[in-house]
Amino acid sequence: MTTIPTIDLVDALASEYADKSPSEIMKLALSQQGEIAISFSGAEDVVLIDLASNLGIPFRVFSLDTGRLHPETYQFLDTVRKHYKIDIEICFPESDAVQKLVTEKGFFSFYQDEHKECCGIRKVQPLRKKLATLDGWITGQRKDQSPGTRNEIPVVQADPGFSGPGKQLIKYNPLANWSSADVWNYIRLMEIPYNPLHERGFISIGCEPCTRPVLPNQHEREGRWWWEDATHKECGLHAGNMKK
Ligand code: ADX
Ligand code: SF4
Repeated sequence: MTTIPTIDLVDALASEYADKSPSEIMKLALSQQGEIAISFSGAEDVVLIDLASNLGIPFRVFSLDTGRLHPETYQFLDTVRKHYKIDIEICFPESDAVQKLVTEKGFFSFYQDEHKECCGIRKVQPLRKKLATLDGWITGQRKDQSPGTRNEIPVVQADPGFSGPGKQLIKYNPLANWSSADVWNYIRLMEIPYNPLHERGFISIGCEPCTRPVLPNQHEREGRWWWEDATHKECGLHAGNMKK
Protein backbone atom coordinates (compact mmCIF):
# COMPACT_ATOMS: atom_id res chain seq x y z
CA MET A 1 0.00 0.00 0.00
CA THR A 2 1.41 3.39 -1.01
CA THR A 3 1.27 6.46 1.20
CA ILE A 4 -1.03 9.41 0.53
CA PRO A 5 0.63 11.26 -2.38
CA THR A 6 1.93 14.78 -1.76
CA ILE A 7 1.00 17.53 -4.21
CA ASP A 8 4.27 17.12 -6.20
CA LEU A 9 3.77 13.39 -6.36
CA VAL A 10 0.18 13.81 -7.56
CA ASP A 11 1.33 15.79 -10.59
CA ALA A 12 4.00 13.19 -11.32
CA LEU A 13 1.42 10.40 -11.01
CA ALA A 14 -0.96 12.29 -13.32
CA SER A 15 1.75 12.30 -16.02
CA GLU A 16 2.81 8.73 -15.38
CA TYR A 17 -0.78 7.42 -15.48
CA ALA A 18 -2.14 9.74 -18.20
CA ASP A 19 -2.15 6.98 -20.82
CA LYS A 20 -2.76 4.01 -18.55
CA SER A 21 -5.95 2.00 -18.54
CA PRO A 22 -8.88 2.73 -16.22
CA SER A 23 -8.12 -0.53 -14.42
CA GLU A 24 -4.52 0.52 -13.73
CA ILE A 25 -5.70 3.92 -12.47
CA MET A 26 -8.28 2.22 -10.27
CA LYS A 27 -5.57 -0.05 -8.89
CA LEU A 28 -3.43 2.97 -8.07
CA ALA A 29 -6.36 4.61 -6.28
CA LEU A 30 -7.27 1.54 -4.26
CA SER A 31 -3.64 1.04 -3.29
CA GLN A 32 -3.37 4.49 -1.77
CA GLN A 33 -3.07 4.55 2.00
CA GLY A 34 -6.00 5.99 3.94
CA GLU A 35 -9.72 6.04 3.33
CA ILE A 36 -10.73 6.01 -0.34
CA ALA A 37 -14.19 5.54 -1.82
CA ILE A 38 -15.88 5.40 -5.22
CA SER A 39 -18.49 8.10 -5.76
CA PHE A 40 -21.33 6.35 -7.61
CA SER A 41 -24.17 8.29 -9.22
CA GLY A 42 -26.28 5.31 -10.25
CA ALA A 43 -25.58 5.75 -13.98
CA GLU A 44 -22.90 4.45 -16.36
CA ASP A 45 -20.24 4.99 -13.70
CA VAL A 46 -21.18 1.45 -12.61
CA VAL A 47 -18.07 0.66 -14.71
CA LEU A 48 -15.98 1.95 -11.78
CA ILE A 49 -17.53 -0.62 -9.47
CA ASP A 50 -16.96 -3.39 -11.99
CA LEU A 51 -13.30 -2.41 -12.43
CA ALA A 52 -12.76 -2.33 -8.66
CA SER A 53 -14.55 -5.61 -8.15
CA ASN A 54 -12.41 -7.31 -10.81
CA LEU A 55 -9.21 -6.18 -9.11
CA GLY A 56 -10.09 -8.15 -6.02
CA ILE A 57 -8.97 -5.32 -3.72
CA PRO A 58 -11.46 -4.22 -1.00
CA PHE A 59 -13.22 -1.00 -1.95
CA ARG A 60 -15.89 1.37 -0.62
CA VAL A 61 -18.73 3.01 -2.55
CA PHE A 62 -20.87 5.98 -1.58
CA SER A 63 -23.83 7.62 -3.26
CA LEU A 64 -25.53 10.96 -2.65
CA ASP A 65 -29.27 10.44 -2.30
CA THR A 66 -30.69 13.87 -3.06
CA GLY A 67 -34.23 12.63 -2.43
CA ARG A 68 -35.03 13.53 -6.05
CA LEU A 69 -33.57 10.59 -7.99
CA HIS A 70 -35.65 8.62 -10.47
CA PRO A 71 -37.37 5.48 -9.11
CA GLU A 72 -35.30 3.56 -11.71
CA THR A 73 -32.10 4.91 -10.16
CA TYR A 74 -33.09 3.76 -6.66
CA GLN A 75 -33.87 0.33 -8.14
CA PHE A 76 -30.54 0.33 -9.93
CA LEU A 77 -28.62 1.21 -6.76
CA ASP A 78 -30.19 -1.85 -5.19
CA THR A 79 -29.42 -4.01 -8.22
CA VAL A 80 -25.76 -2.98 -8.05
CA ARG A 81 -25.65 -3.56 -4.31
CA LYS A 82 -26.85 -7.13 -4.77
CA HIS A 83 -24.94 -7.88 -7.98
CA TYR A 84 -21.56 -6.97 -6.49
CA LYS A 85 -22.50 -7.97 -2.92
CA ILE A 86 -21.39 -4.57 -1.61
CA ASP A 87 -22.72 -1.95 0.77
CA ILE A 88 -23.42 1.40 -0.83
CA GLU A 89 -22.92 4.14 1.75
CA ILE A 90 -25.90 6.44 1.20
CA CYS A 91 -25.44 10.12 2.06
CA PHE A 92 -28.52 12.20 2.84
CA PRO A 93 -28.79 15.98 2.89
CA GLU A 94 -29.40 17.85 6.17
CA SER A 95 -33.16 17.61 6.77
CA ASP A 96 -33.40 21.13 8.28
CA ALA A 97 -31.88 22.70 5.18
CA VAL A 98 -34.15 20.73 2.81
CA GLN A 99 -37.23 21.56 4.91
CA LYS A 100 -36.37 25.26 4.91
CA LEU A 101 -35.80 25.30 1.15
CA VAL A 102 -39.01 23.52 0.17
CA THR A 103 -41.09 25.35 2.80
CA GLU A 104 -39.95 28.76 1.62
CA LYS A 105 -39.55 28.09 -2.10
CA GLY A 106 -41.46 24.92 -2.96
CA PHE A 107 -40.24 21.74 -4.61
CA PHE A 108 -39.18 23.22 -7.94
CA SER A 109 -37.36 26.44 -7.04
CA PHE A 110 -34.46 25.49 -9.33
CA TYR A 111 -36.54 26.22 -12.44
CA GLN A 112 -36.73 29.89 -11.34
CA ASP A 113 -33.63 30.37 -9.19
CA GLU A 114 -31.22 28.10 -11.10
CA HIS A 115 -29.99 24.83 -9.64
CA LYS A 116 -27.12 25.98 -7.45
CA GLU A 117 -29.08 26.52 -4.23
CA CYS A 118 -30.86 23.15 -4.32
CA CYS A 119 -27.71 21.29 -5.49
CA GLY A 120 -25.80 23.02 -2.71
CA ILE A 121 -28.16 21.60 -0.10
CA ARG A 122 -28.95 18.20 -1.60
CA LYS A 123 -25.60 17.30 -3.16
CA VAL A 124 -22.65 19.51 -2.30
CA GLN A 125 -23.09 19.76 1.47
CA PRO A 126 -23.54 15.97 1.88
CA LEU A 127 -20.52 15.41 -0.38
CA ARG A 128 -18.44 17.85 1.68
CA LYS A 129 -19.43 15.98 4.84
CA LYS A 130 -18.50 12.63 3.31
CA LEU A 131 -15.21 13.83 1.87
CA ALA A 132 -14.21 15.19 5.28
CA THR A 133 -13.98 11.53 6.36
CA LEU A 134 -11.90 10.44 3.33
CA ASP A 135 -8.37 10.90 2.01
CA GLY A 136 -9.29 10.29 -1.59
CA TRP A 137 -12.28 9.71 -3.86
CA ILE A 138 -12.79 8.06 -7.21
CA THR A 139 -15.19 9.56 -9.74
CA GLY A 140 -16.64 8.62 -13.11
CA GLN A 141 -15.90 12.01 -14.67
CA ARG A 142 -14.83 11.95 -18.31
CA LYS A 143 -13.41 14.62 -20.56
CA ASP A 144 -16.11 14.06 -23.18
CA GLN A 145 -18.97 14.52 -20.69
CA SER A 146 -18.82 18.28 -20.67
CA PRO A 147 -16.59 20.03 -23.21
CA GLY A 148 -16.97 23.36 -21.41
CA THR A 149 -15.79 22.14 -18.01
CA ARG A 150 -14.22 18.67 -18.12
CA ASN A 151 -11.97 18.54 -21.16
CA GLU A 152 -8.82 19.02 -19.10
CA ILE A 153 -9.45 16.73 -16.15
CA PRO A 154 -6.40 14.62 -15.27
CA VAL A 155 -6.61 10.97 -14.22
CA VAL A 156 -5.39 11.92 -10.74
CA GLN A 157 -5.35 15.33 -9.13
CA ALA A 158 -5.20 17.17 -5.84
CA ASP A 159 -8.91 17.85 -5.44
CA PRO A 160 -9.39 21.46 -6.50
CA GLY A 161 -12.76 21.87 -4.79
CA PHE A 162 -12.66 20.07 -1.46
CA SER A 163 -9.07 20.08 -0.24
CA GLY A 164 -8.59 22.39 2.73
CA PRO A 165 -5.61 24.12 4.38
CA GLY A 166 -5.07 21.17 6.68
CA LYS A 167 -6.12 18.46 4.29
CA GLN A 168 -4.99 17.24 0.91
CA LEU A 169 -7.73 15.25 -0.76
CA ILE A 170 -6.81 13.17 -3.81
CA LYS A 171 -9.30 12.77 -6.63
CA TYR A 172 -8.99 9.92 -9.11
CA ASN A 173 -10.80 10.00 -12.46
CA PRO A 174 -10.04 6.57 -14.00
CA LEU A 175 -12.46 7.08 -16.91
CA ALA A 176 -11.17 10.58 -17.79
CA ASN A 177 -9.82 9.51 -21.18
CA TRP A 178 -12.60 7.12 -22.09
CA SER A 179 -15.37 8.22 -24.41
CA SER A 180 -19.03 7.45 -23.89
CA ALA A 181 -18.61 4.76 -26.60
CA ASP A 182 -15.74 3.15 -24.64
CA VAL A 183 -17.90 3.03 -21.51
CA TRP A 184 -20.83 1.49 -23.33
CA ASN A 185 -18.66 -1.04 -25.16
CA TYR A 186 -17.37 -2.11 -21.74
CA ILE A 187 -20.87 -2.34 -20.25
CA ARG A 188 -22.11 -4.49 -23.13
CA LEU A 189 -19.00 -6.63 -23.43
CA MET A 190 -18.83 -7.38 -19.72
CA GLU A 191 -22.64 -7.73 -19.50
CA ILE A 192 -22.85 -5.66 -16.36
CA PRO A 193 -26.10 -4.17 -15.06
CA TYR A 194 -27.09 -0.67 -16.17
CA ASN A 195 -29.75 1.87 -15.26
CA PRO A 196 -32.87 1.09 -17.38
CA LEU A 197 -33.30 4.84 -18.03
CA HIS A 198 -30.51 4.46 -20.59
CA GLU A 199 -32.93 2.41 -22.70
CA ARG A 200 -35.25 5.43 -22.85
CA GLY A 201 -32.89 8.02 -24.30
CA PHE A 202 -31.24 9.18 -21.07
CA ILE A 203 -27.46 9.42 -21.37
CA SER A 204 -26.29 11.58 -18.46
CA ILE A 205 -28.46 10.88 -15.41
CA GLY A 206 -28.90 13.11 -12.37
CA CYS A 207 -32.01 14.08 -10.41
CA GLU A 208 -35.42 13.38 -11.94
CA PRO A 209 -36.67 16.99 -12.26
CA CYS A 210 -33.34 18.16 -13.73
CA THR A 211 -32.61 15.39 -16.23
CA ARG A 212 -34.27 14.60 -19.52
CA PRO A 213 -33.52 12.35 -22.47
CA VAL A 214 -31.64 13.84 -25.41
CA LEU A 215 -32.38 13.65 -29.10
CA PRO A 216 -30.03 11.98 -31.60
CA ASN A 217 -26.80 13.99 -31.91
CA GLN A 218 -27.58 16.24 -28.95
CA HIS A 219 -24.74 16.32 -26.45
CA GLU A 220 -25.47 14.31 -23.29
CA ARG A 221 -25.02 17.40 -21.12
CA GLU A 222 -27.96 19.04 -22.87
CA GLY A 223 -30.21 16.71 -20.93
CA ARG A 224 -29.10 18.23 -17.62
CA TRP A 225 -30.46 21.58 -16.28
CA TRP A 226 -31.57 22.28 -19.87
CA TRP A 227 -33.16 25.60 -18.90
CA GLU A 228 -29.72 27.02 -18.02
CA ASP A 229 -26.61 28.12 -19.98
CA ALA A 230 -25.53 25.17 -22.11
CA THR A 231 -21.76 25.32 -21.76
CA HIS A 232 -20.89 25.49 -18.07
CA LYS A 233 -23.10 23.01 -16.29
CA GLU A 234 -21.55 21.85 -13.04
CA CYS A 235 -23.63 21.36 -9.91
CA GLY A 236 -20.79 21.87 -7.45
CA LEU A 237 -19.65 18.26 -6.99
CA HIS A 238 -16.89 19.03 -9.47
CA ALA A 239 -16.88 22.80 -9.08
CA GLY A 240 -13.08 22.77 -9.23
CA ASN A 241 -13.48 22.13 -12.97
CA MET A 242 -14.90 25.61 -13.47
CA LYS A 243 -12.32 28.14 -14.56
CA LYS A 244 -12.03 30.89 -11.99
S1 ADX B 1 -22.81 16.09 -11.82
O1 ADX B 1 -21.87 16.88 -11.03
O2 ADX B 1 -23.12 16.66 -13.13
O3 ADX B 1 -24.02 15.70 -11.08
P1 ADX B 1 -22.22 13.66 -13.26
O4 ADX B 1 -23.63 13.21 -13.25
O5 ADX B 1 -21.65 14.18 -14.53
O6 ADX B 1 -21.99 14.76 -12.09
O7 ADX B 1 -21.32 12.48 -12.71
C1 ADX B 1 -19.91 12.55 -12.69
C2 ADX B 1 -19.42 11.80 -11.50
O8 ADX B 1 -19.76 12.53 -10.31
C3 ADX B 1 -20.04 10.43 -11.28
O9 ADX B 1 -19.42 9.43 -12.06
C4 ADX B 1 -19.82 10.23 -9.81
O10 ADX B 1 -18.50 9.85 -9.54
C5 ADX B 1 -20.07 11.63 -9.26
N1 ADX B 1 -21.50 11.79 -8.90
C6 ADX B 1 -22.47 12.45 -9.58
N2 ADX B 1 -23.65 12.36 -8.95
C7 ADX B 1 -23.43 11.60 -7.84
C8 ADX B 1 -24.26 11.11 -6.78
N3 ADX B 1 -25.56 11.38 -6.70
N4 ADX B 1 -23.68 10.34 -5.83
C9 ADX B 1 -22.36 10.05 -5.87
N5 ADX B 1 -21.53 10.49 -6.84
C10 ADX B 1 -22.06 11.24 -7.82
FE1 SF4 C 1 -31.87 19.87 -6.76
FE2 SF4 C 1 -31.97 19.45 -9.41
FE3 SF4 C 1 -29.63 19.80 -8.14
FE4 SF4 C 1 -31.05 17.56 -7.82
S1 SF4 C 1 -30.05 18.29 -9.72
S2 SF4 C 1 -30.05 18.67 -6.21
S3 SF4 C 1 -33.17 18.37 -7.81
S4 SF4 C 1 -31.29 21.31 -8.42
